[in-house]
Amino acid sequence: MAGRDLASPALALVTCEDVSVVHDRSGVRVVALDRVSVRVRAGERVVLWGRSGSGKSTLLHVLGGLLEPTSGSVSFAGRPSTARDRATPHRGFGLGIAYVFQGSSLLPTFTAIENLRFAARYAPDDDGPGPDELLALVGLETKGNHLPSELSGGEQQRVAIARALAQRPRLMLCDEPTGHLDTDTSTRILALIDALHERFRFALVVATHDHELVTRFDRLIELGDGRIALEESKR
Ligand SMILES: Nc1ncnc2c1ncn2[C@@H]1O[C@H](COP(=O)(O)OP(=O)(O)O)[C@@H](O)[C@H]1O
Ligand SMILES: [Mg+2]
Repeated sequence: MAGRDLASPALALVTCEDVSVVHDRSGVRVVALDRVSVRVRAGERVVLWGRSGSGKSTLLHVLGGLLEPTSGSVSFAGRPSTARDRATPHRGFGLGIAYVFQGSSLLPTFTAIENLRFAARYAPDDDGPGPDELLALVGLETKGNHLPSELSGGEQQRVAIARALAQRPRLMLCDEPTGHLDTDTSTRILALIDALHERFRFALVVATHDHELVTRFDRLIELGDGRIALEESKR
């Protein structure tokens, strides 16, 4: 898989330094992130923990290039990087950043396999698993022709995970990936993400407010009111 050679523990894949995000709503300032510095190494598994409103989604959006911070800087693979660089895989760095969101973000008029094919269109040509194999990897080989509305919540999340893999991610960002699921399904989805991380070694950042989820990580970052309240490393 592309980027596997980059899965060296020493290499910082994405770094943000002194990043602040300030929203201005009709003159009211909301500081969503307050001078946050984070480094995610290639292949590392990071849990971003904190209660609702602590800034987890905002930090994921900055890392993934959905949001340009108000101040501070971000580097990807050792180079300064704008949000646009990171959000546009076929420009600039040719990155491979994939998202899994809380609810289904699948294209509703595309079948499961079409969702994967669509996501794979900018992925590098390599000998990694194709859309059919990825769908089988998440246990949905018989459901490729189903529309998202014909799948359960857990199945939709499996498709979303397979779709993320179709982009050959070096960085996978999961924003409360089990937020809409029951406990059993959540456990299975997290086990699946773990197994895929073991196999493909992308850097993984999982945002959650659920204590239960905080079991496996290399680094735990706790956010509180837009600041890093605690950081714990297992390496
Ligand atoms: N577009 C926005 N406009 C104004 N405030 C925002 C916006 N996005 C997020 N916020 C605020 O920033 C803070 C952090 O939000 P968020 O990153 O979504 O937290 P979390 O994901 O941890 O729940 C919250 O106070 C939220 O209300
Ligand atoms: Mg959030």
